[in-house]
Amino acid sequence: MFISFEGPDGSGKSTQIELLATELRESGHEVVTVREPGGTPAGEKVRAILLGEGGTVSVDPRADALLFNASRAQLVADVIEPALARGAIVIADRFADSTLAYQGYGSGLPLDALRAIITFATAGRTPDLTLLLDLAAEEGLARKSGSGRTRFEDGFDATFHARVADGFRALAAAEPTRWRLLDASAAPAALAAQISQAVQGALATRR
Ligand code: TYD
Repeated sequence: MFISFEGPDGSGKSTQIELLATELRESGHEVVTVREPGGTPAGEKVRAILLGEGGTVSVDPRADALLFNASRAQLVADVIEPALARGAIVIADRFADSTLAYQGYGSGLPLDALRAIITFATAGRTPDLTLLLDLAAEEGLARKSGSGRTRFEDGFDATFHARVADGFRALAAAEPTRWRLLDASAAPAALAAQISQAVQGALATRR
């Protein structure tokens, strides 16, 4: 099973992914966690370009879309497909929906063009379950310290991040069988319990 976590910056995805991975491993599953962009040697180099690590870079939104998907193509081929083929559960910290939310709803690139790029990059692989940790954009940004912020958090204004958060909600509403919308302002333990319930439910229907 392939599970992705999506949501605005600072919504607590990495904390929740760790909790879920631990729970699933304790119940005997092989779990592979991946993060986007990155997760392969080539992908980590692309990540450094994209997130402005080691210096500020200016990247056009179209270049962003292609770079995120270059990293994604390598990750799907090298890590995600082999893990799924072995029967592992793959948990992704962001996947293709982030391109639709950030480069599409945020930067205004056409969604149909982005979908074509995504289908090419992923060879059609989509998550079985996508958990949206929904949070008001300004609340998420306030949770992140200055030094932990990326180009996307510092370089775009509040209206960009509000469009991203609304974009995630629109994507979730359009595909309700794949997405679960969860309130990320809840206490971490309460949120973890909701995530666990959603994942156990999805696993049960696949047995
Ligand atoms: P990261 O440090 O991984 O942020 P987070 O911990 O919040 O996931 O940085 C990823 C940034 O890149 C984040 O601001 C979202 C953005 N992004 C896109 O714009 N498009 C994409 O396709 C992906 C995967 C991420």
